[in-house]
Amino acid sequence: MNSTLIVEAMHELVGATGVLDSAPDMAPHLIDWRKRHTGRAACVVLPRDTAQVSKVLAWCNAHDVKVFPQGGNTSVCGGSVPDASGNSILLHLAKMNRIVEVNADNNSMTVEAGCILADIQQAALDADRIFPLTLGAEGSCQIGGNIATNAGGTNVLRFGNTRDLVLGLEVVLADGRVWNGIRTLRKNNSGYDLKNLFVGSEGTLGVVTQASLKLYPRPRATATAMIGVDTVHAAVQEGLKLQAAFPGELVGLELISRSEFEISLRHAAKGRNPFDATPEWMVLVELAASSGDDEAIATRLTDALAPSFEAGVIVDAVVAASAQQRADLWHIRHHVTEANGREGMGLTHDIAVPTYRIPDFMDAANQTLAEHYPAATQVVVGHMGDGNLHYIAMFSHEYWASVEDKAGTQLALSHRLYDIAAGMGGTFSAEHGIGSLHVPEMSLYKDANEIALMQQMKQLLDPNDTMNPGRVLPARAPVASASAAH
Ligand code: FAD
Ligand code: LAC
Ligand code: ZN
Repeated sequence: MNSTLIVEAMHELVGATGVLDSAPDMAPHLIDWRKRHTGRAACVVLPRDTAQVSKVLAWCNAHDVKVFPQGGNTSVCGGSVPDASGNSILLHLAKMNRIVEVNADNNSMTVEAGCILADIQQAALDADRIFPLTLGAEGSCQIGGNIATNAGGTNVLRFGNTRDLVLGLEVVLADGRVWNGIRTLRKNNSGYDLKNLFVGSEGTLGVVTQASLKLYPRPRATATAMIGVDTVHAAVQEGLKLQAAFPGELVGLELISRSEFEISLRHAAKGRNPFDATPEWMVLVELAASSGDDEAIATRLTDALAPSFEAGVIVDAVVAASAQQRADLWHIRHHVTEANGREGMGLTHDIAVPTYRIPDFMDAANQTLAEHYPAATQVVVGHMGDGNLHYIAMFSHEYWASVEDKAGTQLALSHRLYDIAAGMGGTFSAEHGIGSLHVPEMSLYKDANEIALMQQMKQLLDPNDTMNPGRVLPARAPVASASAAH
């Protein structure tokens, strides 16, 4: 359909202030945070409430206009910008940012999908609770986007992925019907668990408009340390020991290579090296306890690290002595993506293997890099406790500009690394999702029956392919007619 007609219809449905259609107004929505994916749209639509989302989807579905939902636009796999057609709408949830209810007694809160994650964390803290989802993009990503991607982050070891933090959802389906599944129960075995179908569906099945979330008591004591070791093997061994020593208290266990650490310090605004000599590998450890004080838990952590320190396995360690030092350590960790973008062209891989296989993965991946891509530097950051590594082949901007077949080079490198992970029972996509970037890998690494089931679910919930077409699922093979099948 012609763009002018789409814009006119949207004006009718959400009012003029809810529609952006000038090029400068739309521009920030049509390119992703890392500036790697671009798209076009007839207009950006900003609904104020669920009723408006419902009307917009019903109209689009009836008129074969595709809908691309967008939250904070921080996707790292091309999930947040529309395709190149230009006759779709981009549905931006930013105006739906109300905290509906915080119930400290029930350890739950209900929010609209456009709430920024950091605002949700703060609202929980204001009620002496925490909402434990934590990631580098928390100042801009929205809870709707977190739910749509089943985001992970740095606290998964203790609190699980976003999926584990969702108690209920309200979703507008592709045809405009509203499913109100807002509940704050911990138990509810009454049929299929629909909310878990929508968590991680990346906007391909409907638009998340509200969510009820799990809160946890605010920890009374925390300890944060950065441990330096010489090898990945030693990092994993130390991590496994800490997991055994602090059950229920180990919240985060992050791995950072020296290359990544130095990049973050070089480019992240407030970076300050806490080490005199930067170790080859660092493990960022966070403990949280429901009683005691910071000093006591820090002492317990130091005591637990002492034997490895004395044995020379831990070559250096910094235990944060203040809230500021703790924030400084996390600042270095959380600014890696921003810093990597300034450093060069980083081809990022979001793989996961069982944690104990990380050293094997690293050996094989490094060998591949050295053999086939000698111009690349190995840069690694990851959620070691979850077996999730962001293995980044970093090329200088100058070198990358000289590469003729950029897409082919990226695909060949990625598939070599994904093959290694798959061979260890791992995955090519641990926490970032599929977006548009990883659709080819779905056919290569997922079981055909699994994909066919997903395609059937998509067909059931969105038969006109209105929602986020071309994302997550490979196009369906044409279904043979009954007569042709015989
Ligand atoms: P967007 O990027 O806008 O959209 C992501 C997907 O969700 C798209 O498919 C979109 O269509 C869909 N979507 C958005 N809102 C809705 C909605 N209301 N209903 C239905 N579909 C919707 N990810 C991790 O898992 N762990 C990390 O540690 C992590 N760290 C990051 C650090 C940085 C600096 C950056 C830039 C990204 C990081 N990410 C991480 C990736 C990203 O932040 C997450 O995927 C985040 O959950 C996306 O949220 P968003 O609101 O920005 O969604
Ligand atoms: C991180 C993002 C890239 O862990 O997932 O920093
Ligand atoms: Zn991550």
